[in-house]
Amino acid sequence: MSQDSQFHLNAFLMGVGHHEAAWRHPRTEAHRVLDVAHFQELGRIAERGKLDSVFFADGLAVGPRIKHNTQAIFEPVTLLSAIAVATEHVGLIATASTSYSDPYTLARRFTSLDHISSGRAGWNIVTSAGADEAANFGVDGIPAHSGRYERAEEFVDVTLALWDSWEDGAVVLNPETGVFADPDKVHTIDHDGPRFRIKGPLNSPRSAQGRPLLVQAGSSESGKEFAARYAEAVFTAQRTLEQGQEFYRDLKARVVKHGRTAGDLKVLPGIVPFIADTEEEAKALEQSFTDLISPEYSLRQLSTMLGVDLTKHSLDAPLPPLPPLDEIQGNKSRYQLVKDLAADGSLTVRQLIGLLGGGRGHRTFAGTPEQVADELQTWFEQGAADGFNIMPPYLPGGLDDFVDRVVPILQQRGLFRTEYTATTLRGHYGLADVDNRFAGAVDEASA
Ligand SMILES: Cc1cc2nc3c(=O)[nH]c(=O)nc-3n(C[C@H](O)[C@H](O)[C@H](O)COP(=O)(O)O)c2cc1C
Repeated sequence: MSQDSQFHLNAFLMGVGHHEAAWRHPRTEAHRVLDVAHFQELGRIAERGKLDSVFFADGLAVGPRIKHNTQAIFEPVTLLSAIAVATEHVGLIATASTSYSDPYTLARRFTSLDHISSGRAGWNIVTSAGADEAANFGVDGIPAHSGRYERAEEFVDVTLALWDSWEDGAVVLNPETGVFADPDKVHTIDHDGPRFRIKGPLNSPRSAQGRPLLVQAGSSESGKEFAARYAEAVFTAQRTLEQGQEFYRDLKARVVKHGRTAGDLKVLPGIVPFIADTEEEAKALEQSFTDLISPEYSLRQLSTMLGVDLTKHSLDAPLPPLPPLDEIQGNKSRYQLVKDLAADGSLTVRQLIGLLGGGRGHRTFAGTPEQVADELQTWFEQGAADGFNIMPPYLPGGLDDFVDRVVPILQQRGLFRTEYTATTLRGHYGLADVDNRFAGAVDEASA
């Protein structure tokens, strides 16, 4: 059982839906992937359901699959700034890469979003696992997995220091005395590490929630250690209750080992819900999406996930032998998830791509609103989740259905809030205020 009495809900939003064929399905309007108003509407729907947050993933390359799938058009912090002004409560989580950004610029962008939204910003910290992304930043091949996580650690350490560089109350803003800021409350950080040298302070004051929420989604050994040290929420792909429980136990134990309390980090497994009046209708709805999958696209997608070229492989044969995990430099946990799915050799590649089409390995679930609510309740009560990453297969209808048909059931069962009780994203997730390392300190230079 989770430590919280109610769970948390994040809407993971992608184009016109998570299903890879969503944009070809009659339930969507494909052109809306280009329309900022579509995303503002999604933010408002999430807010109607009192969801904790909305979230956008991001990649830094077009990749080899452009022919058959829509791509993210908007950079997430920019897009969430537009959603911030169209909403009042819902949290706003953007992905940004530690491998291909610099900490000063990133710290400033996220603080800006936190100011624009009055304390609703979150950062999904990714290390960017793709070779096509590396190629856009002067790097040949996928940078080693361990090196990416080492850089991520120093990156987050220095970003946290920059976010502390302005204390609460540093902005005086007194036109009469002519004082804008109290210099004793604005600090240099003088970071001099293996990868970054940054003097500080940040050129943006501390925001309403102190600093943005830290979110992470790596599930490898290094990914979990990183999350246990820094993350306040973790997104994860878990296919069975047992796997979810094992991940939850493991991660919470690591959090405690790092001197934090288990409740300081919320675990949010993903679910792609197909919702209809009956189970049969929900399954038929899912099948209508599967029928629109382009095998050419899916084979490329699967090849990228597994680090093996499957584009000439027969769709009706099982997977060929796969490389060992330690040779995978990209997304290790998703590789393992797909390998486990296909482990007994009974699935053909065609069946496998059908299974993965809904959410790229995330659990898909087709059922009635009650069945979806039951499933979430079970995972929450049986120690596999503090909340969920809701990944609507099509948008906006899949989010409407979740908010209007599943959320009320969860509310009746006392599992989810009926009103927002906090004003910040940190508050929605029930997390404590953050301390500022400089509070009360006096810079030697100004002393
Ligand atoms: C729900 C979810 C969302 C993710 N979003 C992104 C993303 O936007 N960009 C990205 O580069 N990686 C993203 N990832 C990948 C993770 O950041 C991480 O690279 C991946 O889980 C592999 O980490 P590992 O090698 O430690 O297992 C996401 C993963 C999950 C589960």
